[in-house]
Amino acid sequence: MPHRITLLPGDGIGPEVVEATVRVLEATGVVFEWDRFEEVGAAAMDAFGTPLPEPVLDSIRANKVALKGPITTPIGEGFRSVNVSLRQKLDLFANVRPCNTMPGIASHFDHVDLIIFRENTEGLYSGIETFDERLQIADSIARITRTGSNRIIRFCFDYVRRHKRQLVTLVHKANILKKSTGMFLDVGREIAEAYPEITFNDRIIDNMAMQLVMFPERYDCIVTTNLFGDILSDLCAGLVGGLGVVAGANIGEEYAVFEAVHGSAPDIAGQNKANPTALIRSAEMMLRHLGEGPAAEALRQALLDVYIEGTHLTGDVGGPCSTTEFADHLAEHVAALLTV
Ligand code: NAI
Ligand code: MG
Repeated sequence: MPHRITLLPGDGIGPEVVEATVRVLEATGVVFEWDRFEEVGAAAMDAFGTPLPEPVLDSIRANKVALKGPITTPIGEGFRSVNVSLRQKLDLFANVRPCNTMPGIASHFDHVDLIIFRENTEGLYSGIETFDERLQIADSIARITRTGSNRIIRFCFDYVRRHKRQLVTLVHKANILKKSTGMFLDVGREIAEAYPEITFNDRIIDNMAMQLVMFPERYDCIVTTNLFGDILSDLCAGLVGGLGVVAGANIGEEYAVFEAVHGSAPDIAGQNKANPTALIRSAEMMLRHLGEGPAAEALRQALLDVYIEGTHLTGDVGGPCSTTEFADHLAEHVAALLTV
């Protein structure tokens, strides 16, 4: 049975990294039927008057799984982030972002193996914003709910238990934001009691930022609220080779949308030089989600081989290759692994 997947190429470097990822996915021999939507974000705004047309949501609701490129959000004005709206409308409450060092990718550390579990639907991204024109006062409300805290923290602990990892660190700012992140911390402490085999600790966000830059090997799984998770994700990407290599998954009860941590990278868009590794690793997570373990394993192994080989890498990780040259080479490795 082919897997029917909603495909959102996005904009900026999106179409380039999505095309490369599709090429590599198809080299696994797994059969996909792509339900493709080119116009999302600014392009959809022009064509349909909305950045997130309803047929896109309907497609994901029907297919349950989507693979997505980045989508540009106007800064300071204009439409709300499509990325945030998609997560909220489909209730994709868990944003899972593994950040680990890999042989062949230069980084300041050798043994970083972190997973960030970012709450993905509330906090400062709730969209509750007001502006009083006369008084020139702006409010952005960080709404955190017990239900929302419960499900992301539980999701993190369940993952840690299933994958036999060791430590959960909850990141907050409960010394200042006593009500909102204070409740998040309380919920974390309650839930931790039900997982006695897992070590639990907590850190205040500013200290955590320093700890991660100095001693990332001391941490394992990190669960945190939406904004802190967004910022720490890019920080942790910087620890392991940059945004070109870090994957992500948005997971809810019913649907899952796989996308890289990075954005649309307008500075390098259209130049065939973006690194598709981040989205390819997200696609590896998607294969596992679809029950395609051997294909996911082949993808993981082929990436490792290509990075250790080191001759066909993109510029962000020190190589001479374009997006398409890297993808072609990787696809050959994938196919070769699966035919032996
Ligand atoms: P960005 O992640 O697009 O780029 C940051 C830096 O990393 C740039 O120098 C870029 O060239 C580099 N980079 C990112 N991905 C790369 C890749 N695959 N290969 C090589 N280099 C890569 O962040 P920025 O510039 O802050 O945001 C640009 C736009 O993307 C904004 O409109 C933002 O709202 C949007 N965005 C969308 C996301 C999504 O669709 N989920 C996530 C993050 C940002
Ligand atoms: Mg981000």
